[in-house]
Amino acid sequence: MKIGNYELNGYTALAPMAGVADRAFRELCVEFGASYVVTEMVSSKGLTMHDRKSDTLLILGETEKPAAVQIFGNDPETMAEAAKKASQTGCCAIDINMGCPAPKIAGNGGGSALMRDPDLAARITEAVVKAVDLPVTVKFRSGWDENSINAVEFAKMQENAGASVITVHGRTKKQMYAPPVNIDIIRQVKESVNIPVIGNGDIVDALSAENMYKSTGCDFIMVGRGALGAPWIFNQINEYLKNGNIIPEPPIEERMNIMIRHIEKLCEYKGEYVGMREARKHSGWYIKGIRGAAALRQEICSLENMDQLRAIAEKVILADSINQQ
Ligand SMILES: Cc1cc2nc3c(=O)[nH]c(=O)nc-3n(C[C@H](O)[C@H](O)[C@H](O)COP(=O)(O)O)c2cc1C
Repeated sequence: MKIGNYELNGYTALAPMAGVADRAFRELCVEFGASYVVTEMVSSKGLTMHDRKSDTLLILGETEKPAAVQIFGNDPETMAEAAKKASQTGCCAIDINMGCPAPKIAGNGGGSALMRDPDLAARITEAVVKAVDLPVTVKFRSGWDENSINAVEFAKMQENAGASVITVHGRTKKQMYAPPVNIDIIRQVKESVNIPVIGNGDIVDALSAENMYKSTGCDFIMVGRGALGAPWIFNQINEYLKNGNIIPEPPIEERMNIMIRHIEKLCEYKGEYVGMREARKHSGWYIKGIRGAAALRQEICSLENMDQLRAIAEKVILADSINQQ
């Protein structure tokens, strides 16, 4: 698939995930075979007002390219100005968030609220396309709720507004993240536009990745929660789609080493205080499902430094080896 002039090799993108898919995690996912990554959503207002936190979210690592910066908001002019600023980061595209269901975003007219106002959504895309020299991509859902599934119409309007690629998460805003994804709406969107379509939702392994491609005809796929505590999922998907081989989960010791490397990066980029607090959720994901590891959750919840994390990793490896005997 091409995003503007950028040819994406491979099969799978990492989804934008606020509070999770930061530089450290994106770099790790690229190392494990993600072909394309998208930043956490960044407030267009924050960017235009030079908010420090928003500016920090724009930082892209050298090894995480091609990457898109995702912005959110509901005012065409502010979005255009923010996109101009974001386009200076070395990103390959500007992605517009039209799918976020969080009250803080949708309640202020951004994210998925734009699916209720497709004209405004199209004007935003037009304004951003005009403002930057990069391709503009748009990510949205199947609709606002079950009575207003409008992804097909919405997609056509976005195509006309100048979007180069669209990503469809096959759930309504009201469904948040819960019920199984509606794969068919992604197929319908793919059949109704001429720009590339990225299929997203519930891809958790090589087989669900294949199913997304086969059932929808989409041009690329995007993985979100399936990569949490499992950045190697990209290699697993790539190997299966390319050669038909199923790569098993890495051995526990390897998983723990990857976790440690991830959190070291996190601390390098955000400092130990913030890094270790954020490490608590990531570590919980890395040990999920490992027998005997659940007893360590309490320790994970109060992680303060790398030594404590290394000690937990050793205990997980030990618990696993006892379970193997
Ligand atoms: C913790 C979390 C944060 C998310 N943040 C964003 C975001 O910043 N921008 C966005 O477009 N989608 C965001 N999403 C939605 C994901 O990109 C994706 O569309 C959704 O999780 C469905 O894909 P999955 O089933 O592979 O997780 C977020 C999802 C999660 C779980």
